[in-house]
Amino acid sequence: MADKDGLKNADNFMIDVPQAQRDFHVKGCSDYRWGMKTRLSNIFNPISGNTLMLAFDHGYFLGPTSGLERLDITIPTLAPYIDVFMATRGGLNACIDPKLLSDKAIALRCTSGSSILNDDLSHEVVSVNIKEAVRMNADCMAVQVFIGSEGQKSSIDNISKTIDAGNELGIPTMGVVAVGKEMERTTKYFRLATRMIAEFGAQIVKCYYCDDFETVTASCPVPIVIAGGKKLPEAEALSMCYNSLQRGAAGVDMGRNIFQSDAPTAMVQAVRAIVHDKATDKEAFQMYQDIKNS
Ligand code: 5RP
Repeated sequence: MADKDGLKNADNFMIDVPQAQRDFHVKGCSDYRWGMKTRLSNIFNPISGNTLMLAFDHGYFLGPTSGLERLDITIPTLAPYIDVFMATRGGLNACIDPKLLSDKAIALRCTSGSSILNDDLSHEVVSVNIKEAVRMNADCMAVQVFIGSEGQKSSIDNISKTIDAGNELGIPTMGVVAVGKEMERTTKYFRLATRMIAEFGAQIVKCYYCDDFETVTASCPVPIVIAGGKKLPEAEALSMCYNSLQRGAAGVDMGRNIFQSDAPTAMVQAVRAIVHDKATDKEAFQMYQDIKNS
């Protein structure tokens, strides 16, 4: 391990130089074997290179969340417009008809350990093992990583073990940057957390959008998808989605800004237009309004 004296801040991100893509459309994943590549291709569209994940795994620590009171009713209405179900095994098994998944991918939430009743959410365990991920036909396993918190070491152990098991069977791992009450949301923090998760060997990283986001994506050697975060006005959420993609994100993993929207099916179609059809945020917002008012 390098000593910490005289550390120099990274400052040469070569923003204008895209990372060289070899023969595979998912950044930094060219040398994986066929099975891993098929699952990554189920997640990231080979034409746009991007993904639209619908996140509805909130119940794993929040219980019933506004807009997710009934997964069995809400999710099928949004399914036609998304690429990936980001969910828990319980939510999928109990509420989602497998037929809905015929042309979709699954990002399976595989860690848990805290609830909204805890102040410190950083103590999680691997709560879904690799055999269950195979049984659930997961296209990636999602593991929360708490950089800088009390649970840092145990969460690094969780993701490292999950990556080892996933690499053995060809299932990608998505490291999820946790941002709790105490943790920073600064660009410097996100550069640190995303790069660490990529260096652990995760094939995908989920993070939040921030200022100078292009320096976060440039210094992370695998694809970053952004979490939507708390509910924003639709125009703002669409601008965040557009700006993140313009600055190097490979898609979104959005939940509340879709299912808590005034018109969720209009919103998910507007997000999709940005993610896959090169729409601008303004064009997407117009689309949202047109569909909502039709
Ligand atoms: C919930 C999660 C969600 O997957 C993630 O936060 C994305 O959902 P949202 O857009 O609502 O933030 O980790 O615990």
